[in-house]
Amino acid sequence: MGPSGCGKTTLLRVLGGLTAPSGGAVVADGRAVWSEGRADRQALTQLAMVFQEANLLPWFSVVDNIALPLRLRGVPRAERRAEAARLCELVGIAGFEDHRPHALSVGMRHRAALARALVESPRVLLLDEPFAALDAITRETMNLELERIWLARPCTAVLVTHAISEAVFLADRVVSLSARPARVLAITDVPFLRPRPLDLQHEQDFQGLVRGVRSYLTAAQGG
Ligand SMILES: Nc1ncnc2c1ncn2[C@@H]1O[C@H](COP(=O)(O)OP(=O)(O)O)[C@@H](O)[C@H]1O
Ligand SMILES: [Mg+2]
Repeated sequence: MGPSGCGKTTLLRVLGGLTAPSGGAVVADGRAVWSEGRADRQALTQLAMVFQEANLLPWFSVVDNIALPLRLRGVPRAERRAEAARLCELVGIAGFEDHRPHALSVGMRHRAALARALVESPRVLLLDEPFAALDAITRETMNLELERIWLARPCTAVLVTHAISEAVFLADRVVSLSARPARVLAITDVPFLRPRPLDLQHEQDFQGLVRGVRSYLTAAQGG
């Protein structure tokens, strides 16, 4: 989390091999993601990114959208469709495999985007405000769903969000960043066991952590 414009998207793009860093290093599993301004192809296969918009190809079916990363890697059609269908089941859009994205609700399109990110079994999942465009109820549902899906397919996830309670609800650690150029102000450990019930948000311990993170972010914004 950090003030708007502090560089969260930029940081995720650097982590994900999309924007070359002007300094520093990104190391995943002991392997440098960047060397001499170029992203390491091998390291990139370990990373997947989910954006605020689902970014599905409108002329592809849902299952073909999800299978696209496998297609680009040359995985045979039957195999990649089978894996994409398994992910449709996991993310809760089974039955919509052959629909075009426009026939899906916004929430379902985000589920499809998540399935596409998971199809290559990444070691690291980068999520840039994935639920910011959703209404409050769909967003709560997607928080629970993200945790359920993540527990079924565990990996390291880095999530950017501007909702403090969403950060505390989902994270093991909340990193609060300063205004640009972003610096780490604080790292807050979140100890609650999983799966976490929505009711957790009403508990004192939870609200205490939310207050803590809010105080760092308020300081970051100079207010
Ligand atoms: N460390 C940095 N130094 C200089 N400019 C930066 C840095 N980080 C981000 N920026 C620039 O700041 C702007 C906002 O960054 P962005 O990553 O979109 O912020 P956020 O996602 O936190 O709102 C972009 O134009 C980006 O290029
Ligand atoms: Mg951003």
